[in-house]
Amino acid sequence: MDLINKGLKLSAFGKVKVEENMKAKGMKELSLFKNLDLEVPSLSRVSIILNKTKFIEVLEKCITSNNLNFLKNKILNLKSIIKSYKDKEGILNIDSNGDTVSLRKDVLISELDQILEAKTFQRAKYYLSRLKAGAEKVKTNKINDINLLRWKEYDEIITDSLWVLDKRDTSGAHLGWYWGNFIPQIPHQMMLRYTKKGEWVLDPFVGSGTTLIECRRLGRNGIGIELNKEVAVKAKEIVKREPNNFNIASDVIIGDSTEIDFKQILKKRGISKIQLLIMHPPYYDIIKFSKDPRDLSNAPTVEKFLEMFGKVVDRTFPFLERNRYLVIVIGDKYSKGEWIPLGFYVMDEVLKRSYKLKSIIVKNFEETRAKRNQKELWRYRALVGGFYVFKHEYILLFKKK
Ligand SMILES: C[S@@+](CC[C@H](N)C(=O)[O-])C[C@H]1O[C@@H](n2cnc3c(N)ncnc32)[C@H](O)[C@@H]1O
Repeated sequence: MDLINKGLKLSAFGKVKVEENMKAKGMKELSLFKNLDLEVPSLSRVSIILNKTKFIEVLEKCITSNNLNFLKNKILNLKSIIKSYKDKEGILNIDSNGDTVSLRKDVLISELDQILEAKTFQRAKYYLSRLKAGAEKVKTNKINDINLLRWKEYDEIITDSLWVLDKRDTSGAHLGWYWGNFIPQIPHQMMLRYTKKGEWVLDPFVGSGTTLIECRRLGRNGIGIELNKEVAVKAKEIVKREPNNFNIASDVIIGDSTEIDFKQILKKRGISKIQLLIMHPPYYDIIKFSKDPRDLSNAPTVEKFLEMFGKVVDRTFPFLERNRYLVIVIGDKYSKGEWIPLGFYVMDEVLKRSYKLKSIIVKNFEETRAKRNQKELWRYRALVGGFYVFKHEYILLFKKK
């Protein structure tokens, strides 16, 4: 949660420049994840479209050959075609008969190198078969659309438990106007890992609608609940500004997630289950979101806060499909000289229910100009008070048993 930087928008100029460069060079495709601003996408993430039939033919000839020299020459030739775009064999000819296949150019070249460097004939054939399978088939698991036969192409998906993100995604409808929003990369990453296109995501503390904007980008249906009417109305309007290319639902509903009838809400959409739950509750009273006593940020004590939060976990539980994920984004707080581990309390609360813990991700607070200005002051206070300055929050990941 961005506690200090209100309205300071970091430019995504790096990304724009890369896109312009690519257009100038006539390059067709950016990576699948072009909205992800974890880092500026590099030109190496360009995809290449091949004539599938011809490409597979070459790979098959290599796999069935008994001559290592023949195999290596074929692969060297393939690599040179892909690198130089000069082709006499029709591999780049996507207008003639046969399907096409789009592969990440840098990954393809590295796989061809791997074949060329293979120490044994057997190993080379193993790499060739793997490359062929990746071009021919799609293998996904039940909870996302990641093609596991081409997993190397998904390097933007984070799989480490420490997230150090230096800037927020401010593209499209992500205006960053709401004090207490989360960085769009969080729902983005979670949806890529834990949902398929067309599935349903529920966010019971939707605030400015960050989750719903990401839903529109990734083609997931989204339902968000927000207690504060004014915020909900504005969120609704801003979410609509994001193009709805996948024709999905984006519902912002005004209500109290500790009491609201989720069954009815889903029924209105003709569904009985959702596939991902994202919760970004108030971090107890760090930011007061309203004067409403039903607002979790107005809980009179930490215990009451946890009780209210527990109610939301209970009320949403029946509607999450089994073996699907609950994501909670939460930070700790400091009060009267004492560190209050809200993150761990919240985790304990969830583990009292039928959820198992899958990961604790530690995410940095992004540096902003406002925070930079306060840095010295906080360092001095930390030295005086004998504590450490907050630099992280948690993304807790649970799977419904
Ligand atoms: C940390 S913010 C969520 C921000 C959101 N992730 C975003 O990016 O804008 C928590 C939100 O929960 C809302 N809230 C607090 N208590 C609530 C309740 N009982 N039911 C629904 N929403 C509630 C607050 O108004 C606030 O907007």
